[in-house]
Amino acid sequence: MTTTETTPEVDIEQWRGVAADTEDDIPVAVSVVLRRRTRNLIGSLVRPYKRQAIRVLLAIVVGTAASMAIPALVGIGIDSGISDARRGDHTTIALVVIGIVLCALTQAWLTRVFILGSGRIGQAAVLELRRRVFTHFQDLSLSFHERYTSGRMISRLTSDFDAINALLEAGLDTLVTSVLTIITITVILLVLDWPLALVSLASLIPLFFLSRWYQRRSTVAYRKTRDAIALVIIHFTESLRGIRAVKAFRREPRNDEIFRDLDERNREAMTESFQLLTVYWPGIRMVGNVTTALVLLYGGDRVISGHMGVGVLAAFVLYLRQFFEPMAEVSQFYDSFQGAAAGIEKLAGVLDETPKVIIPAVSTGAPDGLFRGEVHVEDVTFGYREGREIVRDFSLHIPAGQTVALLGNTGAGKSTLARLLARFYDPISGTVSIDGADLRNLSEVDLRRAVAMVTQESFMFTGSVAENIAFGRPDATRAEIEAAGRAVGVDAVVQHLRNGYDESVGKNGGRLSAGQRQLIAMARALLGDPAVLILDEASSSLDAPTERLVQNALKTVLVDRTALIIAHRLSTAAIADRVLVMADGRIVEDGTPADLLAEGTGEYAALAQQWRQSLV
Ligand SMILES: Nc1ncnc2c1ncn2[C@@H]1O[C@H](COP(=O)(O)OP(=O)(O)OP(=O)(O)O)[C@@H](O)[C@H]1O
Ligand SMILES: [Mg+2]
Repeated sequence: MTTTETTPEVDIEQWRGVAADTEDDIPVAVSVVLRRRTRNLIGSLVRPYKRQAIRVLLAIVVGTAASMAIPALVGIGIDSGISDARRGDHTTIALVVIGIVLCALTQAWLTRVFILGSGRIGQAAVLELRRRVFTHFQDLSLSFHERYTSGRMISRLTSDFDAINALLEAGLDTLVTSVLTIITITVILLVLDWPLALVSLASLIPLFFLSRWYQRRSTVAYRKTRDAIALVIIHFTESLRGIRAVKAFRREPRNDEIFRDLDERNREAMTESFQLLTVYWPGIRMVGNVTTALVLLYGGDRVISGHMGVGVLAAFVLYLRQFFEPMAEVSQFYDSFQGAAAGIEKLAGVLDETPKVIIPAVSTGAPDGLFRGEVHVEDVTFGYREGREIVRDFSLHIPAGQTVALLGNTGAGKSTLARLLARFYDPISGTVSIDGADLRNLSEVDLRRAVAMVTQESFMFTGSVAENIAFGRPDATRAEIEAAGRAVGVDAVVQHLRNGYDESVGKNGGRLSAGQRQLIAMARALLGDPAVLILDEASSSLDAPTERLVQNALKTVLVDRTALIIAHRLSTAAIADRVLVMADGRIVEDGTPADLLAEGTGEYAALAQQWRQSLV
């Protein structure tokens, strides 16, 4: 098909909706003042290195002081050293020169100490932060992950960290020395000659307005670049994650277009932010030079009238140069500082999210020995979003060892029920318990012994077939892994692989068919030997012979185990002790397959009827 129709404008708002939420909406303008939780976070990261941090700070303070002494020494050299030398006494000038060299060496060495030290602390803190964020992402509940797109997550783990690293690598020493320098010089100038100092400090007025203008504009521009980059990343991950759908629907040209558009915005925002610097930086330089001229004019006058020495004036001018240089440098780092601040604010925001489903470290009320698998769902109300309940006051009792087939129309709430039983979510009210133990009171280990769920996704991790099965119980032996594989018919799959159980499944299990992946996922669930096994359309991708294979296996596997099997196919229901039909979040039919057939009026009977007719 050739598309001749014009493609509509890229709807950026739609993307922005995906990109933004309250957490990302931190106004970067306040970046100089970090939020309390962010300050706490930084504090907790740096605290282990408190002593080193103090040492490092001390180094930079002393180093700055040493470099600050140089213009003063020059002044002394000019005023006393030269006149002494005229009289044949070279001691002063020699001492001054030695002093300057020593100061320069001290400053150089201490700067090195500072950069090394702060770099080490910074890297250790960043490493710890990355570890915390990753662990936290994993711990957060499904409801968080449904809201927080993977693109945003990648943004957090990459560009936010890049921003922090950029500041640590390039900016931190400059930032600290600059601030120290500016403060020290102000004091020195006032001490040297306060009337002249006041004249030079008058330059702070235009600088203040210039800086405020720059900060405001650059905050907006910076915000735009961040926005644009985030959109690019989100679109990038989204289209690559859905690459199969992209190919199937020939979305490539359209995606290209969206990408180009987003990238163009990114470039524009970057240019804008860059252009601001081209005004700001020369602006500071100009103010600096004009001030120097004014100082020479007024200072010269004061020298002539005998209020100050030439050396003091020389020192003054040298200090002024050192005063404006860091101003310009700080401004250059304003961007990276802003970026790092925004980055860490967002990370602090993520770390502030609390998991909704909290799994206790130790179980309470769990059976002493093995779980038998008696399921009680009592008065459960649950919805994914507030005000939209999928099940209301739902109750269900499944005796231990029963095999239950759950049928119902699409959207009836079958998977929702399964997810509640597997504790992917907690009910808003009511309880789900296994053998009398509320799922909310079970530890990770007990929860895994109690229930396992196989979904249609059958997610495969990078690794071999055996490793993917072992995922269900990391401490399983090879024999146990193979036994679980045998039980559900993975053997038949593995036979055709060159390395058998050691064959790599490829990225996302891409080297296996959907059916093969499902078999492996079933073996994985079985390996954990759960008391309750939930199969959510787990056999939907299997062809008829393989499904029969699995069903035979299931009969043995499900002995002594409670099972909830969700399936659209009738053949699955045939092996069940009990059939439940769900509609609109309620159970509408409940009975043995034979009873429901005999009744002949219900949904199940109708399904059976259809099935028989299709066979004829
Ligand atoms: N993660 C989710 N977030 C929000 N709503 C959801 C989510 N998952 C399911 N729903 C909604 O809950 C309702 C029940 O969905 P559920 O997946 O339980 O149906 P189902 O019976 O398993 O359907 P199917 O047979 O198609 O798998 C649907 O209306 C669906 O839109
Ligand atoms: Mg479902």
